[in-house]
Amino acid sequence: MTINPKTKKKKNSLNIDAPLHVTGRTQYLDDLPELAGTLYAKVYYSKVAHGIIKEIDLSKAMAMPGVHRIISYKDIPGENQIGGIIPDEPLLAETEVHFIGMPILLIIAESEKIAHHTCEAITIQIAEKEIITDPIVAHQQQQYLSDPKTFQLGDTTTAFTNCSYIFEGTAETGGQEHVYLEPQGAYAIPNGDKSIKIYSSTQGPTAVQRTVARVLGVTMNQIEVDVNRIGGGFGGKEDQASPWATMVALGTYLTNRPVKYILERGEDLQMTGKRNPYKSRYKIGLDNNYKILAFEGQYFQNGGAAADLSPAILGRTLFHSTNSYYVPNVKTNAYSCKTNLPPNTAFRGFGGPQGMFVIEAAIHHAARAIGVDAQIIQERNLLEEGSEFSYGQKTENCEAQNCWVQAKKNYGFGERKEQVRQFNATNKYIKKGLALMPVCFGISFTNTMMNNARALVHVYSDGSVGVSTGAIEMGQGVSSKMIQVAAGSFGIDYGRIKLETTNTTRVANTSPSAASATADLNGKALQDACSQILHRLKKMIAAEWKCQDLDTIIFEENKIFALDHSQEIQWEALIQLAFQKRINLSAKGHYATPKIHFDNTTSKGHPFAYHVYGTAIFQSTVDCIRGNYEFDSVQIVHDFGSSMNRSVDLGQIEGGLVQGMGWMTMEELIYDEKGVLKSGNLANYKIPDIYSVPKEIAVQYLETAGSDLAILKSKAVGEPPLMYGIGAYFSLCNAILAFNPKATLTYVAPMTAERVLMSLYS
Ligand code: MTE
Ligand code: HPA
Ligand code: MOS
Repeated sequence: MTINPKTKKKKNSLNIDAPLHVTGRTQYLDDLPELAGTLYAKVYYSKVAHGIIKEIDLSKAMAMPGVHRIISYKDIPGENQIGGIIPDEPLLAETEVHFIGMPILLIIAESEKIAHHTCEAITIQIAEKEIITDPIVAHQQQQYLSDPKTFQLGDTTTAFTNCSYIFEGTAETGGQEHVYLEPQGAYAIPNGDKSIKIYSSTQGPTAVQRTVARVLGVTMNQIEVDVNRIGGGFGGKEDQASPWATMVALGTYLTNRPVKYILERGEDLQMTGKRNPYKSRYKIGLDNNYKILAFEGQYFQNGGAAADLSPAILGRTLFHSTNSYYVPNVKTNAYSCKTNLPPNTAFRGFGGPQGMFVIEAAIHHAARAIGVDAQIIQERNLLEEGSEFSYGQKTENCEAQNCWVQAKKNYGFGERKEQVRQFNATNKYIKKGLALMPVCFGISFTNTMMNNARALVHVYSDGSVGVSTGAIEMGQGVSSKMIQVAAGSFGIDYGRIKLETTNTTRVANTSPSAASATADLNGKALQDACSQILHRLKKMIAAEWKCQDLDTIIFEENKIFALDHSQEIQWEALIQLAFQKRINLSAKGHYATPKIHFDNTTSKGHPFAYHVYGTAIFQSTVDCIRGNYEFDSVQIVHDFGSSMNRSVDLGQIEGGLVQGMGWMTMEELIYDEKGVLKSGNLANYKIPDIYSVPKEIAVQYLETAGSDLAILKSKAVGEPPLMYGIGAYFSLCNAILAFNPKATLTYVAPMTAERVLMSLYS
C-alpha cells in the first residue's frame, strides 16, 4: 500500500458511519421502505420451561380479522431444524418445549397490532416436566449438549507433588444480555419464481441463507440475503439472527407476500440466548518463587436448551484457560451442560472471558493465602517468547511482558500503590482497590475451516469503485477499514470507493463477521481482488510506456507514474484507457489464513494466526457503608500492532472495556427455579451507563511490528478489550480486603453493590 504522508492522519481517523450516526441518517433494517402488501409476523412462545404440549386452542385467534396464517411446525416444507453445529433445535416446537421463550407458533397478520392481539388470543396447555437451570445439576444428570473437551500439557499430577503451595476453589460467572441497540429482525420479499430475498440483521448472512434453505427445503441459490449494516451484534447475531429470518421467509413462502418481523425488546430479551454462565473449579500449584507449576480447571458451561454455538464457545474457554500466563502443566476439562434456558450463544470473547476469570480467581486466591499481592504472581508467570500454550501453539512476537512493564512504568504504578495504601490507612469507610489485568487473546476462528473470505471489486468506466465483501458492519468500523484497504491499494481517495451492502449473491459462502477476524479475513480477500486489477492496469501501462519492471509503476494520490519515466496519468484517464482496451476491470479475491491448523482429537495444533496482548490497571473506590463503588481510572497499554485506524480502534477498546466491566460488576441475569427470567427488562437488568464509566480511561498504543497475518499489520481489536473488564472485579475484591482483611470472597461474578456489601461484612 502506498501511504500518502499528507493524508495519513486523516486516513487514521476515517469513520464513514460517524456523520450518519450523529445526524440520525443511518439506515437500519426498520428504515427500509416497506413494500405494499407487507404482512407482519409474531411468535407465540412457550411460557413454560419444560413440558409436553397437550392442547392448542386457536379458535379465538383464527377468528381475529386481519390474521393471515398461524403457522406451526406442520407447515414447514423442509426440515424443522436450525441447529448450526448440532442438529438439536427445531424452529418451532413440535411436541415438547424446552425453555421459556421457545417459539411454538408463528402468526402472520395484516399489522403488528393484529399479530400482537392474535398472540394473546392463543391458549396452549402444557404438562410441565422437571426443570434444570443449574449446569452442575445437569452435569450430575449427565445432561450434555456435546462431548466434554480436555486440553492437557505436561503432567499436573506429578507437578503438584513438587509444589510448595496448592489451592483449590470454585468460581462463577454470570450470563450477559447483548443489548444490541437494534433488536433481532428480518424482512423477506418474494423474489421472482421460487426465490426469496431477505434483509436480515445478522452477523452471518450465509448462516441465514443456509438455515432458510434447509427449513424451506430449497437450494441455497434460491435464497438471497442482504445486510446493509446492523445496530450491534456482539455475537448475539452470529447464529441467533437465523430463526427470525427463517420465520419471515417461511411466511413469505406460504403467503407469497412480503413478511416482516422486528422483535420488541421484551421479546428479544425473553427468546434469545445470552453469554453462557459458567460454574468452575480450579486447582493451582506454585513453587516457593511463586511460579505456577500446575493448573487444573473444570468448567461447567450453562448451554441452555440447545447446542447453538456452545460447543465452540466451550473450546475457546480452554484455549484461554491460562490467559496471559505460561503454565507448564495444565489439565482442563469442560462440559457443555443442557439446561431449560434459552440456548446461550456467542458473546464478545466467545468463552475466553469465562476461562480467564477462573485462573485470575485462582491467582487471587493463592496471593491472598500466601500473603503477597496478586501482581507478584501475575508478573512472575507472564508469557515469554516461545512459551507453549496447553493446545501446543507457541507464542511468537509475544508482547505480554512488554505491555505489563510499560503499563506499570508509564502509569506510575509504584507510586499509585503507595498512594492507595496511604488513602486506605487514613479512611475508615471509603477504601480503594487496585488490580492489574493482563490479556492474551488468540485471533482466528478456532474452527480452522471458517478462516476464509472473499471480496468482489468493480472499477467502473468513470473510475469510481464498487466494493463488496463478506464483512458486516455492526458498529465496529469494518466498513471504514475496507474502504481504507481499497483506496490504499489503488492510491485513490476514499470518496471514489462505494462499499456495497453485504449480499450472498455477490459474495458467497461467508463466515460470520466474528472472532475479531472480519477485517483481517475480508481485508486480505479485498487486497487480493484489488491487486489482480492493479496487475492488469500495470501491464497495460508498462506496454504503453515501455517500462520493464511493473514494480516501478506507482499508484498514488489519484495518479499513476513510473519511477523511471517522466509521464504520468490521472486515475480516471487510466481507467478510460483500460476500458477502451477491453481490460477486465472487475475481480474476485479470496483469502484463507495460512499456517493455521488444529487437531480436535488430540486438542493440539496452531489454531491462531497470532495473539493480541495488553495490560489494564484498575483503581476503584468502594463506599463501605453502602457497598456502592465507582472506578477512578482504567489505564491500558494495548498491542495494536500498527493500527490502521486509531479512532475506530480506540472506540473498540473503550466499548469493549466498559462492556466487560458491566459483565463483571453489574449485569445480573436472574432466572428463578421455574426458568423465569426475573431480570427481563432494562429497568431491572442494569447495563453500564455514562455514570458507571471510569472517570479516566487512558489507552497507550503499543506500536509493535504487528503480524503479517493482520490486515496492514493492524491487529484485530474487536474482542480482546472486553477481558480487561475482569480487572474491575479484582480491584473491588482488593478494596473489600482493605476494609475487612478477613472477608469471604466467593469469586462469584458479577460483583454487584449487593455482593460487595455482603462481602464487606462477611
Ligand atoms: N463493536 C460494536 N460497536 N458492535 C458490535 O456488535 N461486536 C464485537 C466486536 N466489537 C461489536 C463490536 C464482537 S463480538 C466481535 S467478534 C467483533 O467486534 C466483530 O467485528 P471484527 O471482526 O471486525 O472485529
Ligand atoms: N470465535 C467466534 N465465533 C466463532 C468461533 C470463534 O472462535 N468459532 C465459531 N464461531
Ligand atoms: Mo464475536 S462473540 O466472535 O461475534
